[in-house]
Amino acid sequence: MAQDLFEIMHSMRAMRRLKPDPVPDDVVRQILRAAIGAPNGGNRQRWRFLVVTDPEVKSQVQVYYQRAFEDHVRDAYLHGEAPPGMTKEQHLRQLGAVEYLTVHFHEAPVWIVPCMEGGETPRRAEGAGIYPAVQNMLLAARALGLGATLTTRHTNYQREVDEIFALPEGVHSYAILPIGYPMGNFGPTRRGSLADVVDGSRWGEPAPFDLGDGA
Ligand SMILES: Cc1cc2nc3c(=O)[nH]c(=O)nc-3n(C[C@H](O)[C@H](O)[C@H](O)COP(=O)(O)O)c2cc1C
Repeated sequence: MAQDLFEIMHSMRAMRRLKPDPVPDDVVRQILRAAIGAPNGGNRQRWRFLVVTDPEVKSQVQVYYQRAFEDHVRDAYLHGEAPPGMTKEQHLRQLGAVEYLTVHFHEAPVWIVPCMEGGETPRRAEGAGIYPAVQNMLLAARALGLGATLTTRHTNYQREVDEIFALPEGVHSYAILPIGYPMGNFGPTRRGSLADVVDGSRWGEPAPFDLGDGA
């Protein structure tokens, strides 16, 4: 069972090409149950989750999502360096998937939009009350054979998008998770090595044990 969890974590790629087929309510309910099982500050559970299926709402938001892509995302991919663990070619292939999701964002059968009060005053721990729930949803979706992607690009136009979601004053959307059955296969995530990112007790000190090859 524990092995299954690791298998799921290491093959939980962002799945950006989704079929438009509907996702059964029961499955979405399981994903939402996973969300509210997550750690959260003082167990106050200040979160709320929109289950967005209305084509009108999704289409309106997609316009801003695409605008943010044209604003800066495409250029960042084209002119930026490939991240650790990826070749430039793989990075550009990812751009293809990112652009695909951008254009088809609203066609995902269901979005889950995690919301929480706050977010006006940036603090280091901002978002820590909601992203564990987001990760639980991504893992649950993967375990149930559904594709999903954690997206936050809409926050470039957060005021406009939060208004489309009719969020009350002081409440903000922290991500949009487009969810659906994947067109492609789950596969290994590509990352750099542990040795490049793990230190010992102080920054720059060697880790207290052998990190292996990080795979
Ligand atoms: C905070 C955050 C925001 C992200 N926003 C977006 C997004 O707006 N659009 C998108 O396509 N992917 C988004 N991603 C997904 C990352 O691009 C993806 O996780 C990363 O490239 C690694 O790829 P993998 O998850 O397939 O291994 C986001 C991920 C994180 C953690």
